[in-house]
Amino acid sequence: MSPTMLRLNGRTVEVTAEPDTPLLWLLRGELKLTGTKFGCGMALCGACTVLLDGVAVRGCVTPLASVGGREVTTIEGLREHNARVAEALRAAWLEVDVVQCGYCQSGQLMSAAALLAANPQPTDADIDAAMEGNLCRCGTYPRIRAAIHAAAKRLGADRAS
Ligand code: FES
Ligand code: FES
Repeated sequence: MSPTMLRLNGRTVEVTAEPDTPLLWLLRGELKLTGTKFGCGMALCGACTVLLDGVAVRGCVTPLASVGGREVTTIEGLREHNARVAEALRAAWLEVDVVQCGYCQSGQLMSAAALLAANPQPTDADIDAAMEGNLCRCGTYPRIRAAIHAAAKRLGADRAS
């Protein structure tokens, strides 16, 4: 095992683990970033979603070997990664009162952040496509969609001002 260097929430970290160790295991265990959740461990639920070079990926099936030298962002670092999008999402999530139990929500927010960074004015179809891998046992899907539209509106208003 040789150390792997990566950028994590804006700082350089060194991790020593087997190359096939899932990123989620390292984040929650070694690095103590527990905002990213474990759900299924098989890329089926989206609870473990983080950004890898700005793209939403499932941490439970992303091996350490694939993240060396790359930029990983977790929910703890979203504001530093993209303050405009993070603030728009935070405000919209509160405005729409999205959260029920909360377990899935960090994954939902990371997928929504990746979507809005790439597509600041998504349609319903865009939202459904981007969010389809993020499951919510509490059924907050309609509120998530409404909140993403609300966040997009805030981002649009930002740009106009
Ligand atoms: S824990 Fe990774 S997708 Fe479910
Ligand atoms: S808010 Fe409970 S699982 Fe999504």
